[in-house]
Amino acid sequence: MLAESIETSESNVAKKRASVVSKDTAGLRPGESVRILIPDSRVHKRLKELAKEIRRDFPTETLHLIGVLKGSVFFLTDLARELGGEVSFDFLSVSSYGHGTDSTGEVKLIKDLDVSIEGKTVIVVEDILDTGLTLKYLLRFFEEKKPKHLRVVVLLDKVERRIADVKADYTGFVIPNEFVVGYGLDFDERYRNLPDVCVLQFASKGKAKSA
Ligand code: PRP
Repeated sequence: MLAESIETSESNVAKKRASVVSKDTAGLRPGESVRILIPDSRVHKRLKELAKEIRRDFPTETLHLIGVLKGSVFFLTDLARELGGEVSFDFLSVSSYGHGTDSTGEVKLIKDLDVSIEGKTVIVVEDILDTGLTLKYLLRFFEEKKPKHLRVVVLLDKVERRIADVKADYTGFVIPNEFVVGYGLDFDERYRNLPDVCVLQFASKGKAKSA
């Protein structure tokens, strides 16, 4: 099944629900506001479809999910519960962004895998594919470790921002080039706990360039 496309940042659903994002629930700071881009109900519906697609491709295999910390945490745990069958987890951490909203383009390994992936059916779980520099680094890193299969699932894909020639095997939503937070995604470590995928907007200093 093709990735769902979020055509504009002002979907009807988002408009309808924008008013229910209160300052309290969002943990907003002065000068910042959020607008729902993909409501949690739509995220979870799509997640069930992604799980079916993955299980269709690997009906009997143990799926070894590798979450890329920290943004993928909610996505991985929700996806794992939809997959059924035998599933194991591992996590690694890389850093490609400094504080704020711009990518430095540098990728550094901060936390390595706990267990070997040799001979395993590995599903790399990412919250967002942006420039693709992180995924390019990760694919090379994982391929050297000789998994049986190596696949990538991403929740969000900002196709228009791509620099590296990489793509995911399973994609939740193709989204426009806006700074997104929530459902694991952050701005300076904040907003990860918003249930919906939201666009972060800044009142005075202008919009974030990218994320
Ligand atoms: C985000 C995301 C990907 C990466 C994608 O991680 O989780 O790993 O950026 O960007 P790219 O395609 O431009 O390389 P981030 O560095 O923000 O860390 P986080 O998951 O801890 O928020």
